[in-house]
Amino acid sequence: SANSMWGGRFAAGPDAIMEAINASIGFDRRLYAQDIRGSRAHAAMLAAQGIISTSDAEAIREGLLTVLSEIEAGKFPFRTELEDIHMNVEARLKEIIGEPAGRLHTGRSRNDQVATDFRLWVRDQCDAAIQALRALIRAALSQAEAGADWVMPGFTHLQTAQPVTWGHHMMAYVEMFGRDLSRFQDARRRMNESPLGAAALAGTGYPIDRHATAAALDFDAPMANSLDAVSDRDFALEFLSASSICAVHLSRLAEELVIWSSAQFRFVSMSDKWSTGSSIMPQKRNPDAAELIRAKIGRILGATVALFTVMKGLPLAYSKDMQEDKEQVFDAADSLMLALAAMTGMLSDLSANREKMEAAAASGFSTATDLADWLVRELGLPFRDAHHVTGSLVALAEQRGCDLPDLTLADMQGVHAGITDKVFGVLGVHNSVASRQSYGGTAPGRVRAQIARWKEILA
Ligand code: ARG
Repeated sequence: SANSMWGGRFAAGPDAIMEAINASIGFDRRLYAQDIRGSRAHAAMLAAQGIISTSDAEAIREGLLTVLSEIEAGKFPFRTELEDIHMNVEARLKEIIGEPAGRLHTGRSRNDQVATDFRLWVRDQCDAAIQALRALIRAALSQAEAGADWVMPGFTHLQTAQPVTWGHHMMAYVEMFGRDLSRFQDARRRMNESPLGAAALAGTGYPIDRHATAAALDFDAPMANSLDAVSDRDFALEFLSASSICAVHLSRLAEELVIWSSAQFRFVSMSDKWSTGSSIMPQKRNPDAAELIRAKIGRILGATVALFTVMKGLPLAYSKDMQEDKEQVFDAADSLMLALAAMTGMLSDLSANREKMEAAAASGFSTATDLADWLVRELGLPFRDAHHVTGSLVALAEQRGCDLPDLTLADMQGVHAGITDKVFGVLGVHNSVASRQSYGGTAPGRVRAQIARWKEILA
């Protein structure tokens, strides 16, 4: 049978496969709350402008609230032949209130309707991401505060480089997550304009008030160009881009936790709550949550690439291609929220092993740079010469099978006669980190100042 919405033009209904490729109700039902909110704002505006009667608007409002409660109670009869959430809601409204339901769509199209619903949904997800990132930053800050002066090896190329502190390492992630948070704030600010009233693409001849609907939906303003309003999905692309960058940060931290919890490192141990065992190897404690967080970037970046690919080359204004925006964003948002929550929980329950980290920091000649700097400072050597002398001392220690502080003064003077026993003062890892006082450096005082700054930001 012909479609109840556009049956006037059509004699026959769609092929079953057409229905399958065309219908979005299977996923866009997630927009029901935004759809009903948008419709309520639109109906109230139509009445305020005298475009529909106050009694019709009242019937629409009541009817939409009934639809909302049916959906929330799980009693709503979703129908695939009605394609999407917009037509499902409207058709049900008609069953409930009759004729006035037919006046709701005056001066509106599904094109501006879906753009509005989706913006509202993505805006909510930005807020959720901002909240989740605040919680994650707090968890990283607590770790940093507990271990502001715990020494660990800092790595480059995953080779021991220079000693840093656990607090400094945690605060590096606080900075990254802080930028992620601000990216969601930026995206939210930019997307906060209303497409509603752009109608199909050209605007409408009805005397609608787009400023009123924008205000009712907590948008800052109506979008200024009706073609742009219905045809761009850059707000979704920005959300996905911000999500992808955030997921990269999560994935890198997850990778470090996987490495650090291995028997070879043991820098951290994860609580039982965030680990799994093995069905065959009794000793195992696997960091599955970290591994899954590490993997989520695959879905999130995949969704980002997918939507960029859908949007490129689409002529203005609306094309049905854009219906493919939702599943990508839904999946990316779900994955991101789960990864953020899991990382927050994992970090909160994580115990860092101070002794293990400090022992590892002291091995691998991690204070070689401090030794070279001492030769520059105390003996006036040019840095390049000091680098060379230190390299010879490292080679000597390696040959002896010991670390730099275990060399004797005679050993050292054999390489450079000017070395005195004062050099031993800079070879310890605690002195090394304490000396890194430059702004942004790993000295515990610097790290504590950054922790205090972040606490103020979050307060
Ligand atoms: N379900 C559609 C979407 O998600 C709604 C807009 C349909 N508009 C149209 N002219 N067919 O994009």
